[in-house]
Amino acid sequence: MKAWLLTKLGGLANLHMGEVAAPVAASGEVLLRVQFAALNPADRYLAQGAYPARPALPHILGRDGVGEIAAVGPGVTGWQPGQHAMLLRGAVGVERAGTFAEFVCAPADNLVAIPDRWTSEQAGGGSLTYLTAWQAITQWNLPPGSNILITGASGGVGIASVQLAKGLGHRAMVLSRSTDKQERLRQIGAVWAGSPDDSQWRKSLMEYAGGRKVNLVIDNIGGAGFSDIVDVLGPNGRISVVGRLAGPVPQFNTASLFFRRLRVGGVAAGTYSAAEAQAAWQDILKTLRLAEAAPVIDRSFGFAELLQAFEYLARGPMGKVLLAVCPG
Ligand SMILES: NC(=O)c1ccc[n+]([C@@H]2O[C@H](COP(=O)([O-])OP(=O)(O)OC[C@H]3O[C@@H](n4cnc5c(N)ncnc54)[C@H](OP(=O)(O)O)[C@@H]3O)[C@@H](O)[C@H]2O)c1
Repeated sequence: MKAWLLTKLGGLANLHMGEVAAPVAASGEVLLRVQFAALNPADRYLAQGAYPARPALPHILGRDGVGEIAAVGPGVTGWQPGQHAMLLRGAVGVERAGTFAEFVCAPADNLVAIPDRWTSEQAGGGSLTYLTAWQAITQWNLPPGSNILITGASGGVGIASVQLAKGLGHRAMVLSRSTDKQERLRQIGAVWAGSPDDSQWRKSLMEYAGGRKVNLVIDNIGGAGFSDIVDVLGPNGRISVVGRLAGPVPQFNTASLFFRRLRVGGVAAGTYSAAEAQAAWQDILKTLRLAEAAPVIDRSFGFAELLQAFEYLARGPMGKVLLAVCPG
């Protein structure tokens, strides 16, 4: 089969399209012919060697995907060849071969059916970001109607957070560097949108909120803006640290946490067990129905265009960026 092979750690430049033997479904596993796979910033970190996982090389990246079941291994019940299924976060693309290939094997308990009315592209891009956003919101006991500020809100995790916050009855407020994307985020359900590059954004947010401060920040960005997001939190405010696309926080005064009893908590979708991810997925689908929401797809690239797709993703997408592996 054709696959994108990471031949050594050091960066995405070490990815090459190559030919390898198609995997064979072991006991409890399913073989999928991949239709669409989604890109995630963590693929880049893994390629750079800046990620905890150290898979055997050459490695195939790609954590999300949808496809047609080509074969089932011994002991698999509930799935048949010819059915279509999507992947929930597991070891695929991290410790084991991923979805940037014509075929991928996955444990059957990492598969879910494609939700009603979702396209194949939506199913290919839907799962990791929703599980991440779900953990970021639900790891705290927030009362309904909470103010949730989301940074990097136009990305996969950001849009999933806006949709789930809305479905859970919270008020999603967003930061995006682009005015066009701020408008799109309002259409998706954000009640307030601003730019992290605007020195007045905190004042504008407080004016909108009538002085009522933020209860939770979902932070995808980190970097120099981290102290600003701490500023807008009210008493007992929380921060779910999801990513750090702008790099490390250069200076942080821990005293800023004392007086409002702020809490900072990491998010790691990969810590969900298969059973926990399946249970969370059912809650996510119910919440998306309440929000009348589904995955937002920015763009699909051809199978040969993975490197261009990663460049596009790094510039800041509006939703998920996909690889059309065998879309037909
Ligand atoms: N902890 C976990 O379990 C987990 C799971 C999934 C993802 N993540 C991490 O969460 C972060 C977000 O993931 P994602 O899939 O949403 O990413 P994404 O789809 O690439 O979107 C990130 C958004 O952040 C903004 N952005 C990008 N680079 C930036 C920079 N240098 N400075 C400021 N803003 C920047 C862009 O928005 P604008 O252009 O609109 O400003 C972009 O659309 C990544 O770091 C990812 O690795 C963590």
